[in-house]
Amino acid sequence: MDLKQYYYGIYGENEQTARRFGELLEIIARAGRERSPELKAQDAEGNGWYMSEKMVGMMLYVDRFSGDLYRFEEKISYLEELGITYVHFMPLLKSREGNNDGGYAVSDYLAVEPKLGTMEQLERVVRLLKEHGIRTCIDFVLNHTAKEHVWAEECRRGNPEYEGMYHMFDDDTEPRAYEQTMTEIFPEVAPKNFTYYPDLGKYVMTRFYEFQWDLNYANPQVFNKIIEVLLELANKGIDIFRLDAIPYMWKELGTKCMNHPKVHTLLRMMYEIVREVCPSVVFLGEAIVEPHEIVKYFGDREEKECNVMYNASLMVLLWNSLATRDVRLMERSLAKDYGVPSDGVWINYGRCHDDIGWGFETGILQELGFDPEAHKQFIIRFMLGQYPGSFSIGELYEFNPVTLDARNSGTFASMCGLEQALKEKHAYKIEQAIKRILLLNSVIISYTGIPLLYSGDEIGQLNDWSYKNDRSVSGDSRWLHRGKMDWEAAAKRNDRGTVQGQIFSGIKKMIDIRKNCEYFRSDIKSNPVDLDNQAVFGFHRENKMMVLANFSEHEQWVDANRFSWFGLPGEMTDLLTGRPIRSYNNSILLGPYEYLWLV
Ligand code: GLC
Repeated sequence: MDLKQYYYGIYGENEQTARRFGELLEIIARAGRERSPELKAQDAEGNGWYMSEKMVGMMLYVDRFSGDLYRFEEKISYLEELGITYVHFMPLLKSREGNNDGGYAVSDYLAVEPKLGTMEQLERVVRLLKEHGIRTCIDFVLNHTAKEHVWAEECRRGNPEYEGMYHMFDDDTEPRAYEQTMTEIFPEVAPKNFTYYPDLGKYVMTRFYEFQWDLNYANPQVFNKIIEVLLELANKGIDIFRLDAIPYMWKELGTKCMNHPKVHTLLRMMYEIVREVCPSVVFLGEAIVEPHEIVKYFGDREEKECNVMYNASLMVLLWNSLATRDVRLMERSLAKDYGVPSDGVWINYGRCHDDIGWGFETGILQELGFDPEAHKQFIIRFMLGQYPGSFSIGELYEFNPVTLDARNSGTFASMCGLEQALKEKHAYKIEQAIKRILLLNSVIISYTGIPLLYSGDEIGQLNDWSYKNDRSVSGDSRWLHRGKMDWEAAAKRNDRGTVQGQIFSGIKKMIDIRKNCEYFRSDIKSNPVDLDNQAVFGFHRENKMMVLANFSEHEQWVDANRFSWFGLPGEMTDLLTGRPIRSYNNSILLGPYEYLWLV
């Protein structure tokens, strides 16, 4: 279908639609004219670059990483040293004062947050990064704006051009009807989905925080305005847009207002527009929903939506395997075919700026003999550090005292046991924690998709408890894992005698190997193998490489007959160490938390 058909399909065949569609075409034409020759040269190569084995991302908050975009320049060499090829800047567009949900309450899409720099400086940074072979990703928060955004202000003022850009109601009849079926995102810190404003005499849909007003995509003006700013940002040289909270874009009474089919129409239109104006640009979708719903956001071969999506399933399965020393849930869940299109790519990660929600495949859990509810309670308490024998230290997020449901917060290293081990000054536990960190990274970096590190995790940063002293965020435990980059600790990264040195060098080495081996291209799929040992995860990449990862602190034997078609011990080499793999009656020995990348 072409853009026009989609547009009329969603907004109806009428005069208003025709007028708005005309305006949209003008916006598209203008952006095309304004795109620079350098960017057009880049466009000529298309967007296939995201499939490359060279792709390795790091996400970071500019203020926490370098202070601002000026001082960021000095840190580019650090990213280069680690082997990073794309940087995801956490929200850096201008956002409201005070609590702004970590920048996810944008008050101006075309200005950089003044504390971080200017748009010119961002453009300079994008260019500098590109010179170092690093692409730029920014957050594009398109489900809502800050209530202080000009669109919201104009809407309040009754400017007819901005009328209906948000979901506003004179009384609570419709809001109450919506609440019947809508889910809550922050049931504890921001319950319900509507806020009443006495000064306006209106109810406004505020699905996330009260200060984040939901845009009304049923109004074509919203789509046009969003496209206008998107293209303008693309013309600044941004390569990847992280489309925030996409499942919520379309709201319709009587539905969950989540994963609505019309969200997919909106995304298809956006993709078509980008193909036309800036075809080297890539969309990364953020949809932390069930696996069968996530895959729909890739679109299909003909009608595409997002190129890349977050692999939230792999993330929760990795933590689950570490806690239980049982990889069966991971192996079976990942073996399931959800119909990801051949050019749909996952971002594989262990931690990010958000909490961890335990979305397991309950059917598979039950097959394995677990009670899903009891298991969820186990993992929540394990990650918190309250389950007997747990190595993790974290916090609860959005704890519901009635159902006991919760999510978890904490940094990669603290959840792998490093915080506890350092506190106890326990050398053996420190060693184990480092092994766990590297083990998870070994899967993240070798599994099909793009590995994404969260800044600070490459040197094992611990939980940052100081957020509790800041009243504007102390109620939101996600700040536990949003600490400032510790550059003093990072300075130890080349000293193998330090914790930082061991983690950094281990990760760097894996990145280096990945970037220099074609088997890691994103079109070479990963296939889990049942090794008949529940502590060891194994997968092959289309018979070119076999990965083994021991998720327990005990030695494990793996029967090589399980993958004899791949090669026999004695014929295989570990890519990471160059060590030939020896056979003991056709069995392979893995040390505690050991991993092998066999070729
Ligand atoms: C996304 C972000 C999260 C934010 C929310 C609202 O889920 O990852 O941090 O709170 O969107 O914008």
